[in-house]
Amino acid sequence: MATISKQYITEKFEEVFGQAPDVVSKSPGRINIIGEHTDYNDGFVLPAAIDKYSYVAVGHRNDDEIHLFSQLFNENLSFNLSEIKALENSWANYILGVVYHIQKNGHQLKGFNMVIDGDVPLGAGVSSSASLESAVAVALDRIFDLGLSKWDMTKIAQTAEHTFAGVKCGIMDQFASVFSKEDKVAKLDCRSLEFEYFPLELGEYTLLLLNTNVKHSLASSAYNDRREACEKAVEIISKDFHDVKSLRDVNSQMLREYLYSDYPELYVKASYVHDENKRVEEVCKALEKGDLETVGLFLYASHEGLSEYYEVSCDELDFLVDEVRQYPEVLGARMMGGGFGGCTLNLLKKSFVPELIAKLKPAYEAKFNLELTPIEVVPSEGGHVL
Ligand code: GLA
Repeated sequence: MATISKQYITEKFEEVFGQAPDVVSKSPGRINIIGEHTDYNDGFVLPAAIDKYSYVAVGHRNDDEIHLFSQLFNENLSFNLSEIKALENSWANYILGVVYHIQKNGHQLKGFNMVIDGDVPLGAGVSSSASLESAVAVALDRIFDLGLSKWDMTKIAQTAEHTFAGVKCGIMDQFASVFSKEDKVAKLDCRSLEFEYFPLELGEYTLLLLNTNVKHSLASSAYNDRREACEKAVEIISKDFHDVKSLRDVNSQMLREYLYSDYPELYVKASYVHDENKRVEEVCKALEKGDLETVGLFLYASHEGLSEYYEVSCDELDFLVDEVRQYPEVLGARMMGGGFGGCTLNLLKKSFVPELIAKLKPAYEAKFNLELTPIEVVPSEGGHVL
């Protein structure tokens, strides 16, 4: 694959549309250190953008049409701005959703040509979709001088995902793609939307993603199911506790009293969310002290919760986490993102990376007949115009 850059996407745009683009933007995918499935429960998350991006080049047109070209799918599609609606399973939905919601928020758009490309691996749980939505919002904001704030862009991107991609996601991915800073992780309170950056000083350690290359087609419906289960748990508890608006507000006593015997399934799911929120706080404290051993232990605990209780893992992810436990050079690992495939996140000694890959790759590939793809990531800057 060609290395994508401003020049590369500019040339592509010229090739497709016979003119130079007016604006080029890029927005990153993300990792999440800890705080999984907590965002839509008003909880805490700890994401960082990665050095893998969606690129967007955009140029004016003299009519009300939008002409889109995806380099990855090698497909041209065009629409009229007054007739934007979701398509069945198309890459264009991430663009159309953003366009639709920008207009719905009262902003005036005019026709444009757009080329998209990127190196964020698709279906790997690193939010290629949020990175594209955010890059589109950044580019359209600039070319039409819309004056969108970072939060406007974040929320437009999230709503696009809900309505055009059909995933009732939380705010984490779009937040990370827009707000991240180089070498930092951001702890976001998904209720108040206050956030704080923490330096990610890993010294002789590093973060490594291991991509299972598993993409379960049921992932988005299972995701929406989990969200509903959490809402149901809140509904039950809030009948007596009117101040309980989300799982953020419940304590373990409420969970035991209201769910344990009557709704055991909800009890297990809600308890996971409750515990995971606590883990985010603990990991932030440990990061501040530079105590990476403790961070690692919480990563393993998070994985156990996601796998055994929240049930969003799969055999491939579990295998990878179990395998690395035997190496003292690995401080911790867990599945990352929505689940049912995608990557594990590993915190390990930099010097051990080649050896770990050499050991795991053949074992994984022999067992699952799937490739194992290591991805090294660097915490990076959020979306911007190039
Ligand atoms: C997906 C969603 C996020 C978040 C994670 C799980 O990435 O888009 O909002 O819920 O899953 O933490």
